[in-house]
Amino acid sequence: MGRARTRQPGRYLLRIFTCIGLLLIVGTLRQGTVLELPNQVRDLIAQAGSPGSGGDATGGSHSISDAQQCPVRVPGYAVGSIALIHIPKTAGTYLHTALRSLMPQTGVGRWCTWGNGPEFDMPPVFSTCAVGNPGPDHQQLFEATKRSFLTNCSGFTSHQDVAYFDAVGVDYSRTLTITALRHPVERVISAYYYSLRVDAPFLAGYKPANETDFSGLVRFVDDNPIDSNNLMTQVMAGARHCNWPGTPPLPPEDQHLALAKQNLARICVIVLSEFMDESLVRLAKAANWGSRRVLRLAAELEAHYTTAMNQTLVNSTPKPKIPLEVRQAIERNNQLDMQLYEFGLQLFMHRSLLSYT
Ligand SMILES: *[C@@H]1O[C@H](CO)[C@@H](O)[C@H](O)[C@H]1NC(C)=O
Ligand SMILES: *[C@@H]1O[C@H](CO)[C@@H](O)[C@H](O)[C@H]1NC(C)=O
Ligand SMILES: *[C@@H]1O[C@H](CO)[C@@H](O)[C@H](O)[C@H]1NC(C)=O
Repeated sequence: MGRARTRQPGRYLLRIFTCIGLLLIVGTLRQGTVLELPNQVRDLIAQAGSPGSGGDATGGSHSISDAQQCPVRVPGYAVGSIALIHIPKTAGTYLHTALRSLMPQTGVGRWCTWGNGPEFDMPPVFSTCAVGNPGPDHQQLFEATKRSFLTNCSGFTSHQDVAYFDAVGVDYSRTLTITALRHPVERVISAYYYSLRVDAPFLAGYKPANETDFSGLVRFVDDNPIDSNNLMTQVMAGARHCNWPGTPPLPPEDQHLALAKQNLARICVIVLSEFMDESLVRLAKAANWGSRRVLRLAAELEAHYTTAMNQTLVNSTPKPKIPLEVRQAIERNNQLDMQLYEFGLQLFMHRSLLSYT
């Protein structure tokens, strides 16, 4: 991907000031009492999706705002169903484990179980379906999810892209949708060392010679052998699914970023793995769970993994410290994800500000 673009801090600042200026004008035209700070952020978000704000040359003239869709909260009732898009190495396994404990332990309200055999709700399929017609595993997963979700169980984690939610019939106004993002450089580093640990075959030509040799990692992002650069954007754009019934064809690459932003803005709870406690509190609020209960459970989970595995997050991998030039190579090859993450951060802050005022 030849999208090496350097950031221009001056231009960015100018954008912020233009925004605030516009806001003051727009703010005075609006009726009723409008809270100023969230509005400023909303405009920044709209700007992030408009042309000329980076990367996407064919983005068109749309502007994107926060289109968050959450189930209506009924006082005294917790949300009934949850669906999580698990982009690899964004703390999705941790969230999955936490959610399983937070949902009712029995009955239709429970988290869906994974395993081989008729006593489980879904087969354990942890790969993305990618493109083309689904193989037998993925077809089984699809059918089991359609059959079980909301009938036998009410929460699931999916490694599929966002289009899968539509294929299995997730209704955003009824089911709480979640996805987690992570700084793209950290996510790629984590994915690389995780893949090394599990001896993934695709790393055959990309292994380090020793603890301070990062040439394999740099070649891995430069060659992009399994098309894993900009993975968060691909997943959120709906650009990595096979032919599920009713899903649109895969979008062209020049639309990925704009689509990913649009789809991300719909998701009810955006988790940033760097800000897990804040994310969990937002989740607690959207789900109508007590935040103290959610945080207590998180503390227990973390204590358990610290004792058992010397790591705080479930399924995390120890890794060396990675120097600047290696990080730059990762960033250079993940420009779309860098921009999606920036947008995700803005949404995250926007939603926090709305709820604290
Ligand atoms: C799902 O529910 C149906 C109807 O109650 C039941 O026959 C079936 O065994 C359940 N499946 C699982 C995996 O629990
Ligand atoms: C690590 O591997 C690199 C590349 O093979 C080599 O240049 C370097 O000397 C090695 N460092 C150590 C400490 O062995
Ligand atoms: C955790 O750390 C302790 C002390 O450094 C070590 O003895 C133990 O083997 C580690 N456990 C794991 C699972 O790595």
